[in-house]
Amino acid sequence: MAVPAVLEEGELVLLRRREGDAMLLRLLRGPQTIEGRGVVDLSAEIGRPAGGTVSWAGATYRLFRPALADLLQQVRRKAQIVTPKDALEVVFLGGIGPGARVAEAGSGSGALTIVLAHFVGPQGRVHSFDRRPEFLEVARRNVAASGLSDRVVFTERDVARDGFALQELDAVVLDLPEPWSVTTAARASLRVGGHVVTYVPTYNQLEASVRGLRAEGFEEIRALEVLERALHVGERGTRPEFEMLGHTGFLAAGRRVA
Ligand SMILES: C[S@@+](CC[C@H](N)C(=O)[O-])C[C@H]1O[C@@H](n2cnc3c(N)ncnc32)[C@H](O)[C@@H]1O
Repeated sequence: MAVPAVLEEGELVLLRRREGDAMLLRLLRGPQTIEGRGVVDLSAEIGRPAGGTVSWAGATYRLFRPALADLLQQVRRKAQIVTPKDALEVVFLGGIGPGARVAEAGSGSGALTIVLAHFVGPQGRVHSFDRRPEFLEVARRNVAASGLSDRVVFTERDVARDGFALQELDAVVLDLPEPWSVTTAARASLRVGGHVVTYVPTYNQLEASVRGLRAEGFEEIRALEVLERALHVGERGTRPEFEMLGHTGFLAAGRRVA
């Protein structure tokens, strides 16, 4: 489906100042209150192409359709969230694309949920589980702020104890401290050919995760880490930035066979 040429009433937009300050909001007719910031009226932008400028509260903003990166920047954190470089690798290792049915645990702050919901598209579904209601609440709010709620079903459950109660899933994504305690449940809920992906912060958790995948008969098992190094591109020379995110997490993945 082609992206409409002009902004439509009710769609989610990003209001961004050149200096970086940004917020997500709905494009509504008439004045609307932005929490902690005052009242803005974007009526004149309805029917205009994205990228226009808006003067508000003494500053100039640009109005865009939000990209996935903008959605992730707006996530309010309760749990440690997955970084974009790792989230995109999860999508790749999980073979997750338009129309996919995916289960993830735990929901945490919902950052990975947003990425998964983005890639499964309007025809896909993300079933997101967390055993703690306070995390589910935060995840629910973040996913709603991203405009993706209709692709996500949240359930309060301890998946290590009670499994997913779903069948024929295309992928199961585990971002929780003990993925090996969920690999049996993951296998039971996957279709043949579907993938499980685990994400953990330490080597010993990674080893236990891979052992869990082997014990369940998963094949094509891979374990890896994604390193990202930003570059400073100057007029006189280009070099790596001095600071780098040294460590985030380790990924493991496998495919269910018959
Ligand atoms: C690191 S956070 C997930 C972060 C999330 N992927 C994000 O990007 O925002 C881990 C979550 O797993 C949940 N969790 C841990 N063990 C669980 C289990 N057995 N069943 C369901 N949720 C669990 C925790 O409550 C916590 O919210």
